[in-house]
Amino acid sequence: MSTIRSAGYNIVIGNDSIASLNKFLALKKYSTHFILCDENTFRDCLPELLYHCDYLHEAQLLEVESGEQSKNLNVCVDLWKSLTESEADRKAVLINLGGGTISDLGGFVASLYKRGIDFVNVPTTLLAMADASVGGKTGIDFEGLKNHIGTITQPAAVFVNPKFLDTLPQREVLAGLAEIIKAGLIADKKLFASVTRLKALSRQKADQIISASVQIKNKIVSKDPLEKNIRKALNFGHTIGHALESFALSTQQPLLHGEAVAFGMLSESFISLEQKLITKTEFLQIEKCIRKFYSGIQLPPPDNDRLLQLMRHDKKNQDETINFTLLDGIGKFKINCAVTDELIISALRKIQ
Ligand SMILES: NC(=O)c1ccc[n+]([C@@H]2O[C@H](COP(=O)([O-])OP(=O)(O)OC[C@H]3O[C@@H](n4cnc5c(N)ncnc54)[C@H](O)[C@@H]3O)[C@@H](O)[C@H]2O)c1
Ligand SMILES: [Zn+2]
Repeated sequence: MSTIRSAGYNIVIGNDSIASLNKFLALKKYSTHFILCDENTFRDCLPELLYHCDYLHEAQLLEVESGEQSKNLNVCVDLWKSLTESEADRKAVLINLGGGTISDLGGFVASLYKRGIDFVNVPTTLLAMADASVGGKTGIDFEGLKNHIGTITQPAAVFVNPKFLDTLPQREVLAGLAEIIKAGLIADKKLFASVTRLKALSRQKADQIISASVQIKNKIVSKDPLEKNIRKALNFGHTIGHALESFALSTQQPLLHGEAVAFGMLSESFISLEQKLITKTEFLQIEKCIRKFYSGIQLPPPDNDRLLQLMRHDKKNQDETINFTLLDGIGKFKINCAVTDELIISALRKIQ
């Protein structure tokens, strides 16, 4: 088991991490414990959590429907009503048991209820373990725009138990791998190479790549929690990725966040190549890796105008130019790169 210290909180990773959560709750003496889950984490993860955590036996359960569509304001209102009806006070805690949808939503709800109560993330998807559960970004989608309303509020603690991955569908495992590939591409050449070689995800391998990814994210976020500069590195693949994801949300072919990011990384790597920031060989390595894991994913029919419009809404933009985080060789990044619409369209063609 390992513990990574972040901005005022701990990230505990390993098979005994739920026992650590129990100790953490004993020390904190919260007034009431609430657990937020969806129907899948209720079925597959809650029994394991309760088995190892006496402090949660009397916890109150809050359940939302699984999937991105729960990251919306109406669901928040329902959760705030439930907390109010249960008379949750400022010493209550919300345990987010689930993937990035649950930690984004639960973190957001907790960060505003009575001006902020503690929340603890217990991630159950690879994506949430390696990325979404740390760093403090919370939020919901609004008017068809991803993460349009949100806060930056750090969790009180994060407990990562890779055992939860045993029940996670393979498509979700692969989606989570995308954020780990991203961490490797922006900051750790060896991590990228090791994910590229991956055939199956053993428990030991999962521990290793989750820890590597969390350390990268944590290091970047600790230096720039409010995304004034280098935190933008974590947006690699996300300018095009978020546009693809938002666009797909309105079609019959929704994409998982990680899948959208995977294709976003491929097209943004193409932009990096065109801007002479990476070599052709590096680009081909990245393309091979993305095609290896995501060739079965079908993207919605292309609508480049709509995708460009969605990118303009993205938080990375100043004025009218669309700014990207690009690769500067594998394992390094360059933020605030202005890219013309023509080049973005060529990059979109690369994935269509
Ligand atoms: N805040 C951040 O820094 C950050 C970073 C990356 C992504 N995100 C957000 O995370 C969200 C995506 O998160 P996700 O990919 O974890 O998706 P998710 O939370 O929607 O979970 C994916 C699916 O897996 C199910 N599931 C979860 N754990 C399971 C388990 N152990 N066994 C069986 N089924 C399980 C869920 O019910 C759901 O159906 C997106 O909304 C994205 O914007 C946030
Ligand atoms: Zn992401």
